[in-house]
Amino acid sequence: MWTSIDESISKDGKASILFPLQKCLFTFLSKSIVGADPASYSPKLAQSGSIMLDKWLALQLLPSIHINAFQPLVEIFLHSFSYPFWLVKGDYEQLTDFIAQEGTEVIQWAETEFGLSRETTIHNLLFILGFNAYGGLSVFLPILINILGTDSSGLQDRLREEVLEKCGSNIPSFKTVQDMPLVKSFVYETLRLNPPVPLQYGRARKDFLLKSHDAAFEVKRGELLCGYQKLAMMDPKVFYDPETFHPDRFVGEKGQVLLNYLYWSNGPQTGEPSPSNKQCPGMKSVILTACLLVAHLFQRYDCLKIDSSGSMVAAEKAKPFDSLSFSSMYEN
Ligand code: HEM
Repeated sequence: MWTSIDESISKDGKASILFPLQKCLFTFLSKSIVGADPASYSPKLAQSGSIMLDKWLALQLLPSIHINAFQPLVEIFLHSFSYPFWLVKGDYEQLTDFIAQEGTEVIQWAETEFGLSRETTIHNLLFILGFNAYGGLSVFLPILINILGTDSSGLQDRLREEVLEKCGSNIPSFKTVQDMPLVKSFVYETLRLNPPVPLQYGRARKDFLLKSHDAAFEVKRGELLCGYQKLAMMDPKVFYDPETFHPDRFVGEKGQVLLNYLYWSNGPQTGEPSPSNKQCPGMKSVILTACLLVAHLFQRYDCLKIDSSGSMVAAEKAKPFDSLSFSSMYEN
């Protein structure tokens, strides 16, 4: 991903982040969720699997997403019916074939451990891989990189220092990034102000009282409720200066308490996903994946810059780790 971004910057002076990132995500998530390497299946799939997923996602999301142009044509032609499956049938079948061939271990595990049929497992794996994981991270990670690349408060220096102190020149892992409080807090704060799936709907399973700080509302069984995460995570009684981005908000003991009010995953960051609460089961891996991206980024670059169109326009390569001295970095 970074190599292709570097090449575009040196050729055109700038690089789009989204497509190289999605190509990387497709391989990373295929390996980590399905245990399958796209390149072992076919070089063509490794190259274009992310584009196949983009088309499949667009077909499902277009009828319901807000498009701020050409009204009423958008309502009539894009928002009034679901699109026919045959438009993406070929791509979908290639992706399921990839999972069936390369993900044999995970499929077998689903069959023996959970009693799921092979067909059900393959389609569910593709849905989690393509819709939940790839879809969610394709929205979230560009926002995170954009915040980094447009920051002028010295945040990049602080993050880089933490990454290099904790990781040195070792390859960052899910384990090493656990020990990076500022990187984690930066990721949490990005999710607080930019929840990628901001709206949640649900029907009440029983009568209950919905309480806020100073009021209570009677909710009847069967009533439809909508939650807007962005508003909930800007509660001034919980978050100091709630509209401002404070990257170190979640550092330290007080910061840990605030995790009870971080709801981007359809539940608090301190919660446990279960079939009854529908909280995102990827909630921990999302945080670690984002931290991993930040760690890789600052091992490779000393700083990066994103322009107003969201393209990366400058990335200063990191000095070799051996020539860095932490004491002199901290003095500076
Ligand atoms: C930034 C990335 C992600 C975001 C913002 C996100 C957000 C969410 C949200 C808000 C829900 C609840 C949807 C609802 O019912 O209202 C959800 C559900 C779910 N997520 Fe995530 N998610 C992300 C990444 C992932 C990843 C990486 C995985 C898997 C490895 C995953 C797997 C799932 C699954 C399977 C569900 C359905 C849970 C259920 O219905 O019980 N998500 N996610």
